[in-house]
Amino acid sequence: MVPPDPTLPRRRVASPPTTDPQTRAEALAVAAKALRSAEHVCVLTGAGISAESGIPTFREAQTGLWAQYSPQELATAAAFASHPARVWQWYAARRASVRVAQPNPAHLALATLAQRVSHCSLITQNVDDLHERAGSRDVIRLHGSLMHARCSNGCAGSVLPTDEQHGDPPPCPTCGALMRPDVVWFGEPLPMGPFEAARNAAVACDVFLSIGTSNLVEPAASLPWISATHGATVIVVNQSMEGQRKGPSILPLEGPAGVLLPRLIAEAFAGRRPRRQAE
Ligand code: OAD
Repeated sequence: MVPPDPTLPRRRVASPPTTDPQTRAEALAVAAKALRSAEHVCVLTGAGISAESGIPTFREAQTGLWAQYSPQELATAAAFASHPARVWQWYAARRASVRVAQPNPAHLALATLAQRVSHCSLITQNVDDLHERAGSRDVIRLHGSLMHARCSNGCAGSVLPTDEQHGDPPPCPTCGALMRPDVVWFGEPLPMGPFEAARNAAVACDVFLSIGTSNLVEPAASLPWISATHGATVIVVNQSMEGQRKGPSILPLEGPAGVLLPRLIAEAFAGRRPRRQAE
């Protein structure tokens, strides 16, 4: 994907009304109008979009992964150095549960959205592959992928983990060091290329859709607000608006993404034919 040029002039979408819509139907109508007139839509997804596919989020009380496991013991380079098999097996178990999960209506709605607008940038913090399996292309992955492994020593070696690799991490095919999950751990920088692409898209878009993320982990958490300061309308789709930022350019849509996104896309593009077909 060619990253959008943030220096190009952009068409602005009318801002939502300053009074908050009182009902979900009104909020959906305002959000649909903004989407309909957008040239470039930027989407940021978090764990909440995959919750309805049965994949746990991170921070929700009781069910979130970080309510049950310690990130320090499983999601840091130090944890891998001390207990490589334990860390490898935890990611292998998560990968196995993703393999049996299916994309839900929210993932499918975003694949449809990309066919309805001139330019759609899809950024995800998720390490599952449900966007791709729903038909989305050129997904900008900020936190890597459960479906790849890379050399823990930093050489170019990479492997696609198989379901048989549930024990110790396999050796790097190039240098023999241990392979590690190709995900971003706490304390590690994001991959530069994807983050630059994400930032450029946030700056350039007319409408920013933030879906199913607590917006607590930087630098991804800043993307919607970068977009808002550059004049975009920010639509926040979340099961709960607790802790989400508020402001005149922020339009909250509270409820499950698997219900709200298909309605939003249907309302925004009723009668509009796809601009391009999925390849
Ligand atoms: P969180 O677990 O922090 O937040 C999940 C969000 O999804 C919450 O705001 C929920 O209210 C919302 N949610 C849950 N179910 C939903 C549904 N059906 N529809 C809409 N919203 C729903 O997950 P992230 O924000 O993705 O990083 O977490 C960000 C990063 O923190 C992750 O990528 C991961 C984690 O540590 C790394 O592993 C590097």
